[in-house]
Amino acid sequence: LCVVVLFGGMSSEHEVSRVSAGTFVDNLDRARYEVLTVGITREGRWLCTEATSAQMADGSWEELPGNMPCVISPDRADHGMILFTPSGQVEKLHVDVVIPALHGLWGEDGTVQGLLELAGIPYVGCGVLASAVCMDKAVANALFDAAGIPHTKWLSACRWEIESDLDGVCDGAIAKLGWPIFVKPANAGSSVGITKAHDRDELKQAIALALENDHKVVFEAFVDGHEVECAVIGSDPAVATRPGEILAGAEFYTYDDKYKNGVSQVVIPARLSEEKLDEVKTYAAMAYTALNCEGLARCDFFVEHGTDRVMINEINTFPGFTPISMYPKLMEHEGTPVPALIDHLIELALE
Ligand code: DAL
Ligand code: MG
Repeated sequence: LCVVVLFGGMSSEHEVSRVSAGTFVDNLDRARYEVLTVGITREGRWLCTEATSAQMADGSWEELPGNMPCVISPDRADHGMILFTPSGQVEKLHVDVVIPALHGLWGEDGTVQGLLELAGIPYVGCGVLASAVCMDKAVANALFDAAGIPHTKWLSACRWEIESDLDGVCDGAIAKLGWPIFVKPANAGSSVGITKAHDRDELKQAIALALENDHKVVFEAFVDGHEVECAVIGSDPAVATRPGEILAGAEFYTYDDKYKNGVSQVVIPARLSEEKLDEVKTYAAMAYTALNCEGLARCDFFVEHGTDRVMINEINTFPGFTPISMYPKLMEHEGTPVPALIDHLIELALE
């Protein structure tokens, strides 16, 4: 089977994706799969590359002399990619399955999934709809509410509402949510553009920062609690793992904590009672199904200190697969090491 691993991409999570994709490149069984890696630069150039996972991770892959520009062909008769060789030839290549190991916008949000649908090429993970709705925190929150999945108090405002009445938007958020308030761009990942605001000045700065990343801002009440995450796989039925827990290193779990400082630690299973672990697991499968997820996703929750209330935070439709990432660790803990997990994800994509 010809498997294409996509990595990089135009999002703020470009670097994380380069490491996640390396996990696939290093663990795909070469006896079963012919593996092609295609990097997408920050500018959006698609390059078929023979880079090693180390060259992908450190960024040097972009400069390799053998890289060949390529595109996914939207012509279904091609069922694959078109490569532009150095000699000026155009080569067509049949592709059996794509692993879009991309995080954030332009990759995890349904855009690449749409391209692959059009091309008729099977791919690992969620389809267009689930990818798109999980990427938009306001839409996802509304759907969690509709499905009866508990969530912290929230509201959203778009750019024109904010620009026409900033103080009114602030008043509304403060009245509904109290302090502190999490301010997030509706569409972003890995904590980019997110601020925990403690007063009105910080709130205004936070809104300005969020608006640099998106035209819509989501406000959420702070939850003081355990940060727990469930891996979910398949769809008929969806199977959730027992949750693991993030031991945060800073005020909250930031992008630098996650991928640079290595200060966050993971505990599996989460430090909760058996009943709570089961409750989180149940809500994870419910949320995954309610938002139309397929293949895989990681559902992130808070379990509030004191009240023990379980509240969903978000769903990541292509969760991190780096060596410090929760999804592969949770699966491994349930008895599925990474190579077997990848085989299973490919089987699900081909079903
Ligand atoms: N968005 C990152 C990759 C994650 O949630 O794992
Ligand atoms: Mg994300």
